[in-house]
Amino acid sequence: MDTETLQKKRFDTTASDYAAHHGDKWSQKYYKRFIYEPMFENISLKNLNVLEAMCGSGEATAFLNENGAFITGLDISKEEIDIFKTRWPDSQSYCRSILNTELPENSFDCVMIIGGLHHVHPHVDEAIQEIYRILKPDGFLCFSEPHKGSLPDKLRKIWYNNDKTFAENEESIDIEHLKVKFSKQFNFKNEYYKGNFAYIFVLQSLVLRIPLKLKAIYSPLLIWLEGIFDKIQGKSLSCFVVCQWQKK
Ligand SMILES: C[S@@+](CC[C@H](N)C(=O)[O-])C[C@H]1O[C@@H](n2cnc3c(N)ncnc32)[C@H](O)[C@@H]1O
Repeated sequence: MDTETLQKKRFDTTASDYAAHHGDKWSQKYYKRFIYEPMFENISLKNLNVLEAMCGSGEATAFLNENGAFITGLDISKEEIDIFKTRWPDSQSYCRSILNTELPENSFDCVMIIGGLHHVHPHVDEAIQEIYRILKPDGFLCFSEPHKGSLPDKLRKIWYNNDKTFAENEESIDIEHLKVKFSKQFNFKNEYYKGNFAYIFVLQSLVLRIPLKLKAIYSPLLIWLEGIFDKIQGKSLSCFVVCQWQKK
């Protein structure tokens, strides 16, 4: 089975559980503090045309809306896009692959992706090439993904190999490779390494099969702890990277 069909199948079957575990109050607090705020640092989203790529159920849409962006959602899973459409009827959305969006070139001020690129392995370079094509000059590519080579990445690999939830093509992102490959096309503006206790037990509650009720009990403490370790953990102990790139 090709990688796009694998991913489509995977997310078509988990879409409603995904929305419940990522749309709850605690995941939303996590996203805002540890992902959206560093991701859009020094970018004013007001009136920007933003593609929420690999949007799933549209967990970032509320934040983008509040900040005045015009949002388009894109995801390969029909079930995910159906939830997106129901939650965000005023936004445009497309059930398409990031590898071939069929969207016009130079049409977005910003393309943002959270936890998506590691699902297109081994086609990440093609996905970024496609994003480059649809971004306007000076437009931003903002993404957050598990990165290659950290201790959490090694543990994640063992977990992926032993849990049938994950599709076999999933793989962390090789940031150093991407920065060499796309050095002529993008300026690399920001790179933050993040993710510890709360990333694992709050944001990953679905894959860890943690009941939502239980999550409400421990999340405040873990989010507080994450804020402390966030300052000292560095690249090798972090679970993911947040990048802000600008098209040249
Ligand atoms: C882990 S979810 C992330 C969803 C959302 N960005 C979030 O933060 O909650 C990954 C998403 O990527 C989508 N996806 C996987 N491969 C794709 C592809 N080739 N093109 C577009 N979307 C894809 C899946 O359907 C899924 O909704």
